[in-house]
Amino acid sequence: METENLIQIDKGDDPSESILFSPLTPTLGAEVSGLDVANGVPDSVKTVLKQALLDYQVLLFRQQFLNDEQQIEFAQIFGPCREMWQPEHYRSNSKFIHYLSNVDRDGVPVGIHPDRNSTYWHSDYTHVPVPARATVMNAVQVPEDAGKTHFINMYQQYEYLDQATRDRLGNYEAEHHMGFRRAARNKRLPWQWRQARKEGESILSQLKWWTTTFRRRWQDGPVYHPVVRPHPETGRVALFIGDHAWRIKGMFWPAGIRLMNKVNALEIDPGAVYTHKWKPGDLLIWDNGSLLHRLGEYDLINQVRIMRRCVVLDGE
Ligand SMILES: [Fe+2]
Repeated sequence: METENLIQIDKGDDPSESILFSPLTPTLGAEVSGLDVANGVPDSVKTVLKQALLDYQVLLFRQQFLNDEQQIEFAQIFGPCREMWQPEHYRSNSKFIHYLSNVDRDGVPVGIHPDRNSTYWHSDYTHVPVPARATVMNAVQVPEDAGKTHFINMYQQYEYLDQATRDRLGNYEAEHHMGFRRAARNKRLPWQWRQARKEGESILSQLKWWTTTFRRRWQDGPVYHPVVRPHPETGRVALFIGDHAWRIKGMFWPAGIRLMNKVNALEIDPGAVYTHKWKPGDLLIWDNGSLLHRLGEYDLINQVRIMRRCVVLDGE
């Protein structure tokens, strides 16, 4: 990958009419400068950005203080957006926007993580049949030196494996389901109920959780994705697993868990990781088909983290 790549938006010598791609690591990510996203992106640049996302996998734009509509317009360059679930305590008026935050409507930290499971390596929305092609995140307010996002290049992870492991993984599909995957972590298994009860979870709520989880799984049906998947646009093969996968189809469940834990332990190749330290106004888009990501820890009571997110659908 080149160290710098200058793209001329328009003919002429004015440097303000150029976009510069500066790689963030030797193999993953680029900072894009010379573009004010709030003012709209010219059609010629849209084509360049779409290709750049495939090439670099993460694109960073600094100092982009967008509103909901501007962010949706930007995301739609890459494809149609997914309708998002809205948290009770911090809602957007747009169905395509999801605020990830640890604050209430008055901006006061509530001490609750928007989703603790996002601290595990995952690709967004693999638990539904049409997963996320790309995620677009705009930093509204971020803690100093905490709540970073880590990315790992799954093309590289696949290529790092020996041929026998590649062949073995290539035979499998994984079932992705958030509830089943998180059952043990959230103390939902019967032998964990005593401990969960000490922490305030009643047996009745445990039973309700399992009833709802099984009913949804039965109604919606299983969601399978190949463990080894050619990227829908580049065709390059990547490992496509992560935290939402809870069992390998056709494999004894504990053996499947062991295999997934091994693959998800990741950082097999340390050169495949980029860690993003957020600043307010950062606009980041990443390719979920070739990356896993996870959120780093921050102080949920004393620090504020507000991110505006929208998600571009896969396969459109
Ligand atoms: Fe995520």
